[in-house]
Amino acid sequence: TTTLIRKLAEMRELSRGWKAAGESIAVVPTMGALHAGHLSLVQAAKAACDRVIVWIFVNPKQFNSPEDLANYPRTEHQDAEKLAPHAVDAVYVPDVDQVYPPGFATTVSVTGLTDVLCGSHRPGHFDGVATVVSKIFLQTGADRAYFGEKDFQQLQVVRRMARDLDIPIEVVACPTVREASGLAMSSRNQRLSPAGQAVAAGLYAVLRDLAEELEQGSSFHPLEARARARLAAEGFGEVEYLDLRSEDGLQALDHAAVPARLFVAVWVDGVRLIDNIPVAAA
Ligand code: PAJ
Repeated sequence: TTTLIRKLAEMRELSRGWKAAGESIAVVPTMGALHAGHLSLVQAAKAACDRVIVWIFVNPKQFNSPEDLANYPRTEHQDAEKLAPHAVDAVYVPDVDQVYPPGFATTVSVTGLTDVLCGSHRPGHFDGVATVVSKIFLQTGADRAYFGEKDFQQLQVVRRMARDLDIPIEVVACPTVREASGLAMSSRNQRLSPAGQAVAAGLYAVLRDLAEELEQGSSFHPLEARARARLAAEGFGEVEYLDLRSEDGLQALDHAAVPARLFVAVWVDGVRLIDNIPVAAA
């Protein structure tokens, strides 16, 4: 049976009992509005651990604008229905004061990795993520935490944070789940109009074509200009970034040498889409 939890004290008690019984615990951190991408993390967690906690909390500290926070989908009832067949052990939906009690004054901030990509376009975002994720790890006492490669920079920031703070948890990465078109699933896709959806469906092909040319040894710079022109021609709006970077330190690259990824953030129809794909060494 799944226990719905709203209080930290209750979460700790459950977790303590499981540990005392020698059971391994996984946590799947989410902001709700669950889709097949989130559920793939739940499945991976279930396959590897005795107990699975799904964390659902729309974290105000990681939103850049009050409008984005207000518009973020909240679908608690549907989320519960989607989780039911997975029979997780606990769904932890903390009240805001269980995460940020009155007087809360601490920020966890990872430097370096957060200077680039989404970090340079969403000031304070990764501080909000690192702060809440450190709390998720400490509140649940989980042995493993499951994250999607969809948010690859977040994954690397969280890994760095856990290592730097000596939090004894294994961060596990899961591949991006995509629509038939290749569009990476995202809670924000719901906000696309039908016309926006049709445009967004083309993003993956642009990334794939770029990756293929890089894998044949082309340098990134001339390809980037052509890819940006193609995005504009296909009806995409502002490209916040289109970068080739190393997986490990997110260093900018001009050739696919070390394990590398293409990263994009682009606006369509008032919605900001992010995606990334691996590029094999040329
Ligand atoms: P959220 O956007 O709800 O995503 C929760 C987890 O699901 C993240 O690890 C994300 O990478 C993963 N995910 C999202 N879409 C995916 C897809 N298409 N395929 C695979 N995994 C996918 O990321 C957050 O919430 C928050 O920042 C959080 C970590 C919960 C902290 O508040």
